[in-house]
Amino acid sequence: MSGPTGGVVIAIDGPAGAGKSTVGRAVASRLGLGYLDTGAMYRGVTFGVLRRGLDPGDIESVARVAAAIELSVQDDGITVDGVDASIEIRGRAVTAAVSSVAANSSVRSELVRRQREWVAARGGGVVEGRDIGSVVFPDAALKLYITASPRVRAERRVAEIGGDVDDVESSIIERDRKDSSRADSPLVEASGAVVVDTSGLSITDVVDSVLRLLTPSRGSDDVAG
Ligand code: DC
Repeated sequence: MSGPTGGVVIAIDGPAGAGKSTVGRAVASRLGLGYLDTGAMYRGVTFGVLRRGLDPGDIESVARVAAAIELSVQDDGITVDGVDASIEIRGRAVTAAVSSVAANSSVRSELVRRQREWVAARGGGVVEGRDIGSVVFPDAALKLYITASPRVRAERRVAEIGGDVDDVESSIIERDRKDSSRADSPLVEASGAVVVDTSGLSITDVVDSVLRLLTPSRGSDDVAG
């Protein structure tokens, strides 16, 4: 999708822990584009739900929270109703509840609306999530599906924050299953997406190959061509 200012949308989808954020941030910075982590938005709504003492599976109440909540996602964090929730959205409580909030169709339509607004306000950007190339920006200039084996993803996570590789691998497989089997906007390889398996690759290699993908269509002053 090219915006009126020559902006470009790069859609990045894939399962948890495959390296989407690292690759997405690096690509955005190399291209001078903004970067939006839509998972942080689903986590932000979940934080707001838990903070209000609501049941994440209560469809109606959770939908009301999503419609009213103030979310501000920055490069290095998030505020939810004016409260810095950057640490809490990555914690156990939010991580355990986010899949059911993300399965709520009213939450999804509200967040998709906000994601499109974010991109329209900037004339483009690198947007990362699960349904970006399939639902949110099906006309993106480049769609990537970034993946890695559950084992490799578990090993990377344990190297970052510790834990037992087998336990982390089982929880990764379970979250993939929930994200891929939900009725509304499941995690899928979007049509036209380039699949990048990062198992055994360095981030630099992946970023370089992604930037090469953009080169053939590059015009003199616009990466969208
Ligand atoms: O990428 P993440 O682990 O921070 O995502 C948190 C949850 O939100 C995860 O269960 C998948 C879900 N999600 C989604 O359903 N759609 C998106 N566009 C982004 C994330």
